[in-house]
Amino acid sequence: MPDRTSTDDNADAIIQTVSVSRYFPQGDVHALRDVSIEVAQRSHVAIVGKSGSGKSTLLNLIGGMDQPTSGEVRFDGQSLSQMNLDHYRSRQVGFVFQRYYLLPNLSAVENVQIPMFESSIAKPERVEKARRLLHQVGLSGREKHLPRQLSGGESQRVAIARALANDPKLILADEPTGALDSESGRAILELLESLQQSHQSSLVVVTHDESIAARASQRIELADGKIEAVIAR
Ligand SMILES: Nc1ncnc2c1ncn2[C@@H]1O[C@H](COP(=O)(O)OP(=O)(O)O)[C@@H](O)[C@H]1O
Ligand SMILES: [Mg+2]
Repeated sequence: MPDRTSTDDNADAIIQTVSVSRYFPQGDVHALRDVSIEVAQRSHVAIVGKSGSGKSTLLNLIGGMDQPTSGEVRFDGQSLSQMNLDHYRSRQVGFVFQRYYLLPNLSAVENVQIPMFESSIAKPERVEKARRLLHQVGLSGREKHLPRQLSGGESQRVAIARALANDPKLILADEPTGALDSESGRAILELLESLQQSHQSSLVVVTHDESIAARASQRIELADGKIEAVIAR
């Protein structure tokens, strides 16, 4: 067993990063250096910092989309390096990106079902669940719309419904309002927050919008790949 101290083994944390660094040989970039953070169960965390400060790199490590050069990411106390990452990404984590990444030839209700295709859930249940999720994000009546028939805010709502399809414990959002006007951006954030609470999951949002960060229970500030400040409310 790795050496564990009371500070690096918090049973209340859904995510812990322990001295995580990420070096990209291409460009000789130290994107993250010795970053240790904790995300409490059912909490809302904001990661802020200038462009290039390492926010997306950190979110990708937490989501199992990339691996650290050194250090460790733990989910529910277990190191991601000892987990099946495909399974982790599809079952435990829901991702929301700035650019939605909806499949253009699939309708809204089909896009929401994508994460469920790998599970054993039968088609009628799958469709029913996708409809229910679209209802929860305020898109009843838009089930058959294709992405090009949806506004930016509506597309992001579909992406959020898709992120929730497998009931993830953790929702990761990388600048989810970055492509939206401020009003639809605020509505998207409110939606993410209310879903985080009703689904009892944890939400980690990368943003450079301070008004968004101010709503989180913990604000983690990155500068040059290092933690500059952690502010808990
Ligand atoms: N795959 C990659 N290969 C090389 N360099 C990268 C890669 N991803 C990110 N970087 C570099 O790492 C730094 C942090 O990037 P990133 O995490 O995307 O910043 P942020 O999301 O805060 O804008 C940047 O200097 C960026 O150019
Ligand atoms: Mg980024």
